[in-house]
Amino acid sequence: MSSETHLDNRLRLCAEFVRPGARLADIGTDHAYLPVWLCRNGVCPHAIAADINPEPLNRGRLTVENAGLSGKIETRLSDGLKSIGSNEADDIVIAGMGGELIAKIIGDCDYAKSPDKHFILQPMTRSEVLISWLCENGFEIKDQDCCEAGGKCYTVLSVRYTGAPAPADEIYRYTGILRPRENETHLRFIRAHIGRLRKQSRGDARFAALADRLEEYCGDR
Ligand SMILES: C[S@@+](CC[C@H](N)C(=O)[O-])C[C@H]1O[C@@H](n2cnc3c(N)ncnc32)[C@H](O)[C@@H]1O
Repeated sequence: MSSETHLDNRLRLCAEFVRPGARLADIGTDHAYLPVWLCRNGVCPHAIAADINPEPLNRGRLTVENAGLSGKIETRLSDGLKSIGSNEADDIVIAGMGGELIAKIIGDCDYAKSPDKHFILQPMTRSEVLISWLCENGFEIKDQDCCEAGGKCYTVLSVRYTGAPAPADEIYRYTGILRPRENETHLRFIRAHIGRLRKQSRGDARFAALADRLEEYCGDR
């Protein structure tokens, strides 16, 4: 089955957070599998598939053309949201990048701080940096889930600006609104954080204390 007709679990989870009828911007689209799937399945009437690099954008263009969706999906060279107008998209997906880069892309966009924009964020690394940044800058996590794909565990965040900055506490940075005591995949995602903290703790006892607290939060101790 081809990737544009059958999304992997990670992109599928991103797709689940996109609101039916929303105009989409997929930032860092690469193959454009996500916008093609969403437009083909009638979830989105229109999408902009954007990438900062010409090569992945060309891959995306080919996927769009092969799917016969050039009338609904526009491919566009863009550094983050810099070449996407404020009235062009309702739902904005930024997936498959590090948490710091995702935070920077949102921070660089002057219209991101509008409550009607809905962000769907999938950090590959450093989700704790992204969550801290979101909290400090008045963005609220409305929904969050995890999935497994290719033997790894990923989280996806559904986020909106509320204008009420609240510094994230040490645990929230790592857990967001996940429920590890009720959901096995959430638990696996947080245990992966704990594993990394245990490695870091060999040089710093503060990481060990944090790993202990996260284990308590998960009900593991
Ligand atoms: C690993 S791919 C992710 C593809 C797809 N979003 C996914 O999750 O499977 C990351 C893509 O982000 C693009 N990218 C990196 N920095 C970017 C930026 N500042 N603005 C737009 N695209 C960017 C890269 O060129 C690359 O194609």
